[in-house]
Amino acid sequence: MSGVVEAVAADVHGLAVGDEVFGLLRFPGFRGSAYAQYVAAPASDLAHKPTGIDHVHAAGAPMAALTAWQFLIDVGHDHPSPFQEARHRPVPLDADTTVLVNGAAGGVGHIALQLAKWKGARVVAVASGAHESFLRELGADRFIDYTRSRPEELVHDVDLVLDTVGGPDSRRFLRTLKAGGAQFPVLPGDFDEEETAKAGVTVSSAQVRSSGVQLAELGRLLDAGTVRVAIDSTFALADARAAHERAARGHLQGKIVLTVAR
Ligand SMILES: NC(=O)c1ccc[n+]([C@@H]2O[C@H](COP(=O)([O-])OP(=O)(O)OC[C@H]3O[C@@H](n4cnc5c(N)ncnc54)[C@H](OP(=O)(O)O)[C@@H]3O)[C@@H](O)[C@H]2O)c1
Repeated sequence: MSGVVEAVAADVHGLAVGDEVFGLLRFPGFRGSAYAQYVAAPASDLAHKPTGIDHVHAAGAPMAALTAWQFLIDVGHDHPSPFQEARHRPVPLDADTTVLVNGAAGGVGHIALQLAKWKGARVVAVASGAHESFLRELGADRFIDYTRSRPEELVHDVDLVLDTVGGPDSRRFLRTLKAGGAQFPVLPGDFDEEETAKAGVTVSSAQVRSSGVQLAELGRLLDAGTVRVAIDSTFALADARAAHERAARGHLQGKIVLTVAR
């Protein structure tokens, strides 16, 4: 969500009535629905909204940007993961690394692509053909339309695959990795430990958590225009059903945002 502070508890410091803030609320507790005109939020889940972007773009940022950040840059917490025992560890990204982002036009994918470019990496973006110019504008060095060719047959020696589609099909990307490479399925898939050990690669996933501290860092990148949030569509809160129908049709380019009257 993104909005304006209406009231603060007595023990809250650093936030005042009238401040513009954005945040992913109480995740993964699932007690923080932001489908509302007013929400109560833990101060630690909030950061000041970047002044250079409006509330719609700021509201689109927290879930996707924190997911991309915690997968690629820094987990930022020690909470156990529901997906694996080992702590997820991002891999260093620089001009010598190649990252393949699958589902690159979606919420998580388009931010992940930009964070990888910010770190200097070469990025291969995989999406359906309609997203090519969008992804090239965001900095993709190579684009593969998965409806026309199979990326796992075209790409080799990748350092990192961030698979935002994930699931059982994710393992097909293992063959694109160089020895020592890593694959991060955002939706955990079906991986055979023997197969990954034999290939000398790491598979790791994580579950995003709310973090006002990380959002403040992301806010600086959003303000500078280093990272931008694309808006697939907006719907009035009363039309939330239509927003879900849009999501269910798939092929999103960026985020869907619900708007509320002020
Ligand atoms: N681990 C976590 O904590 C965490 C956090 C956030 C999200 N997630 C999960 O991560 C997934 C992605 O989330 P999101 O918000 O980024 O979803 P999204 O905005 O719906 O984006 C998904 C993207 O994948 C593309 N796509 C669909 N099928 C594809 C395929 N076979 N190959 C390549 N691209 C394909 C879609 O467009 P095109 O088909 O047109 O290219 C779309 O742009 C969801 O399952 C979500 O639940 C997990």
